[in-house]
Formats: sequence, C-alpha cells, structure tokens
Amino acid sequence: MKFIVCENYEDMSREGAKIIAELLKKKPECVLGLATGSTPVGMYKELARMNKAGKITFKNVTSYNLDEYYPLAPDHDQSYRYFMNHNLFDHVDIDKAKTHVPDGLAKDPAAMGKAYDAAIDAAGGIDLQVLGLGPNGHIAFNEPEENLYVGTHLTGLTESTIRANSRFFEKIEDVPTQAVTMGMGSIMKARSILVLASGKAKHYVIEKMLDDRITTQVPGTLLKLHPNVVLICDREAYEG
Ligand code: F6R
Repeated sequence: MKFIVCENYEDMSREGAKIIAELLKKKPECVLGLATGSTPVGMYKELARMNKAGKITFKNVTSYNLDEYYPLAPDHDQSYRYFMNHNLFDHVDIDKAKTHVPDGLAKDPAAMGKAYDAAIDAAGGIDLQVLGLGPNGHIAFNEPEENLYVGTHLTGLTESTIRANSRFFEKIEDVPTQAVTMGMGSIMKARSILVLASGKAKHYVIEKMLDDRITTQVPGTLLKLHPNVVLICDREAYEG
C-alpha cells in the first residue's frame, strides 16, 4: 500500500484528484468506482474544476457507486444517487446513463446485488475504486463483523454509523437502518483503489490501516491484501 500524508483536507483532495485525472488521461473510457460521504466532496469539486478548465473529460467514463440507503428512492435528497448528481455528475461532462448506483428500492435486493456485480464485470471491471473509511473502519457499508460478504448485498447499519450519518438528516430517526452495498469481493476486484481519510475521527482507523494485521472487525484493513492501493490522509487523521 502506498501511503501519503497531506497537510490538510484541501491538499488531500487535490492529491486524490490528480490520481483520477491521470487515469482519465491514460484511459478515457475507464470504469470508476465512486463513494459518497463528506470525504470525497473536495476531490469531486477539484475534478469538476479540472473538467471545466478542459484538462480532463468524463465523456466516456462509466461509474458504479458503492452503496445506497435502503429503502430510499433515488430522488430523495438524502439518497446517494442525489448526492452524486449534486456533488459530481451535474458538474462534469459525464453521460448520466453510464452512471450507476445500487437500487435502493429493489424488491429483491439479493437479485439486484448479483446483477450489479455482473454489470460491473460486463463493463470490464472497475479500474479505480474510490473509498472513504468509516470511523469504525467500515468500507462501503461493510461494517465490522466476524463474517463479511463477498458480493453486493443488503445489510443493516451499526448504531455508530447511524449516529455518524445522522448529521445529514433532520433527526436520527430519519436515518435508514439498512443499505445495499458492494461487498468486500466487489471492492477487492478493482484494479486499483484510492482511499481517502480526513480529520481526527479517522485516527483510530488510520492506525489500524498502518499496522501489519488484518481483521474483519476493521474491514478497511483487508485492503492490505490488495496489490494496488493508495491511501491518502490529512495530518489530523494521521496524528489524531
Ligand atoms: C460512502 C461509503 C461510506 C463512507 C464512510 C466515510 O459511499 O461507502 O463507507 O465512505 O462512511 O464517510 P465520510 O466520508 O462521510 O466520513
């Protein structure tokens, strides 16, 4: 794993954007795996700026997002589809028909999950997967547990994740308690992975990412088994 510490959130966002921009130049028709949450917002802003300046294009990009709340409609203002439109897709020249988010209203989430993984494979697999880290070490919504799922699946959210995500909702009762999420296998199949982490709340998980052990109790640590991961954090996340 390549590890980079940046001075602050803005530098981390620029470093992340640089890596994606390089891929877009090398492989304009690449498949991106994308994340929501506060962490990548600055990087998405930087990518939109570079796109406006004519330095990069998303015209031929296909994207697959990690997860979606369940049950939640795509036009709900807290849905991850809404988030992606608002924070990236509406600001770049991507063809929205080529952007995918797991279906938060799927009647049969297990079938939807299988189809989602098959669609990623059919698209040629993910070239670069963007990830944030939960304060408890979750990646996508693979929460700390003894057993983790391989494929895209329906899952319950932990108390701590519901609490962490309640900052985006009016009240904690409004936070969905379930989500559909790519599994560990869906993520590990990506050819390269870019992990971002910012702020003191991520210090615990950064420490776990940097030791020489893996545990399903901190799902992010399993990324140490992947041959092509870049982890970028800011000084607050590094020093705590
Ligand atoms: C988002 C996702 C989550 C977040 C994580 C960190 O699509 O899958 O795993 O990456 O919860 O969230 P933030 O960035 O808000 O701290």
